[in-house]
Amino acid sequence: MTIETSGTSASGGGVPILRVVPGPTDINANGHIFGGWVLSQMDIAGGIVAHRIAQGPVATVAVESMHFIAPILLRDIVSVFAHEERRGRTSIAIRIDVVANRGAAMTDVHLTSGLFTFVALDEDHRPRLLPPA
Ligand SMILES: CC(C)(COP(=O)(O)OP(=O)(O)OC[C@H]1O[C@@H](n2cnc3c(N)ncnc32)[C@H](O)[C@@H]1OP(=O)(O)O)[C@@H](O)C(=O)NCCC(=O)NCCS
Repeated sequence: MTIETSGTSASGGGVPILRVVPGPTDINANGHIFGGWVLSQMDIAGGIVAHRIAQGPVATVAVESMHFIAPILLRDIVSVFAHEERRGRTSIAIRIDVVANRGAAMTDVHLTSGLFTFVALDEDHRPRLLPPA
């Protein structure tokens, strides 16, 4: 369940783009959250930032290899940070970091990070030049 979307600048600026609480149906047999659920949240957050930069529709074209550092547990509050790392003619690479806020001590646990590339699309679903920075 998504509880908040925010982020006041395209770079993220230290503000999470999403804060999400995974639900019971997002848990696998180990009691951890599915990796696919995490990827989905990262894609959503990256897409929000890329859409702002592109000033229009974008599609995910690539995800760099990723490493899941620590499991996500039920009742974690998951924050997804996203900021622009590289801009091409039609594509934008967005660095996405995922952090869990956990337990009574509210400890921050770094879960994963990844580089997602989005392409700005025109009305024919083909690459479109990005607007000037
Ligand atoms: C996005 C899409 C329109 C791009 O079409 P394309 O013919 O590959 O376009 P191009 O070869 O001109 O590449 C467009 C840009 O994407 C970049 N790109 C393409 N493949 C890439 C890859 N594997 N990794 C990183 N960047 C890539 C290119 O470098 C180019 O960037 P630039 O213009 O900034 O230099 C097309 O691949 C597509 O529709 N893919 C499916 C998108 C989708 O449905 N995503 C959701 C999946 S569930």
